[in-house]
Amino acid sequence: MNIPFVDLKSQYQSIKQSIDDAISCVVNETAFIGGKYVKEFEQKFAELYGVKHVISCANGTDSLYITMKMLGIGKGDEVITVANSWISSSETISQTGATPVFVDIHPEYYSIDENLLKGAITNNTKALILVHLQGQMANIEAIQVICKERNIHLIEDCAQSHFSEYKGIRAGLRGIAGSFSFYPGKNLGAYGDAGAIITNDDKLAEMCRMYANHGALTKHKHEIEGINSRLDGLQAAILTAKLPYILQWTEQRINNAQLYARHLAGINQIVVPTIRPDSKHTFHLYVIRAKERDRLQHFLKEKGIETAIHYPTALPNLQAYRYLGKTPNNFPIATQYQSEILSLPMYPELTEDSIIYIANTIKEFYTVG
Ligand SMILES: Cc1ncc(COP(=O)(O)O)c(C=O)c1O
Repeated sequence: MNIPFVDLKSQYQSIKQSIDDAISCVVNETAFIGGKYVKEFEQKFAELYGVKHVISCANGTDSLYITMKMLGIGKGDEVITVANSWISSSETISQTGATPVFVDIHPEYYSIDENLLKGAITNNTKALILVHLQGQMANIEAIQVICKERNIHLIEDCAQSHFSEYKGIRAGLRGIAGSFSFYPGKNLGAYGDAGAIITNDDKLAEMCRMYANHGALTKHKHEIEGINSRLDGLQAAILTAKLPYILQWTEQRINNAQLYARHLAGINQIVVPTIRPDSKHTFHLYVIRAKERDRLQHFLKEKGIETAIHYPTALPNLQAYRYLGKTPNNFPIATQYQSEILSLPMYPELTEDSIIYIANTIKEFYTVG
């Protein structure tokens, strides 16, 4: 059996006609930048989320950067984020001129450990980039209280948590803004780079829209200097074509996670994901912790099963952050887990037969490997 880590082809095949039609409309109308397809996606995504503003942009890195810039974050400020994430969650902090401050991960849920948050706050702390990693929301209620008390902007990084919920409220709706990536492999993925900011704050929305489009809301009326970070028409039309299926695909991921939990039960050498009470984990990734992780990954590869590691080096342990003067001992959980975590194949179209094969192969490794 050959099981890829993600399978974007099957999804395309399942909705080929809608995608091909969407692409051909944009090309026929040469609606490449801005225009009706971008507007339509923003409107539909806003309706689906029940949010006032969706500001599309070029990718989920820019959406973080633009939000922070328009909140006035810059030199001399500190912004807190989590020790395990994709580097966008921290490099965008540095891009504004501010300093990233890392906090270790929660041992059970893998997102920021809310118990350590207060200890990282100083008088210079302006914002928190709260990453809802793997498809599961961080402990947002406790974190919201702390941010409010200390007057810290709460920005939710929802790149991995489309349609995830905590107590029935979706990721991206509790902070000042939610930042989304529609990178092809994300739960809602474009056919290239794409991103968006969601917010109920009118002023922030206007500023972000302006900044992402060279500082202008109307052509040639540049009120500030900005950047060029626009969603293109093709990506917008493709995303709109996928929207009718996204909730069903999300349920299929959840169902696959349940199948994994059932078939992996009883393997003592691994730890399967824990779902936070009252939370809807949408399984962008299905991450286990495994004894002898590297040997297991190699064994699975030989048996045709592709896996990945998110992420092999915790952010503060990267060369890029040596200048902060921290050591791996400052982040004991993220450091320990970087050599234990393993992301198994996960996508809506994954079959139970594949999941059984993966589970049996893991069992085989620990019996004979
Ligand atoms: C947690 C997180 N934040 C931000 C990003 C950045 O998104 P993009 O790749 O669209 O720039 C990603 C995507 O890889 C991500 O996983």
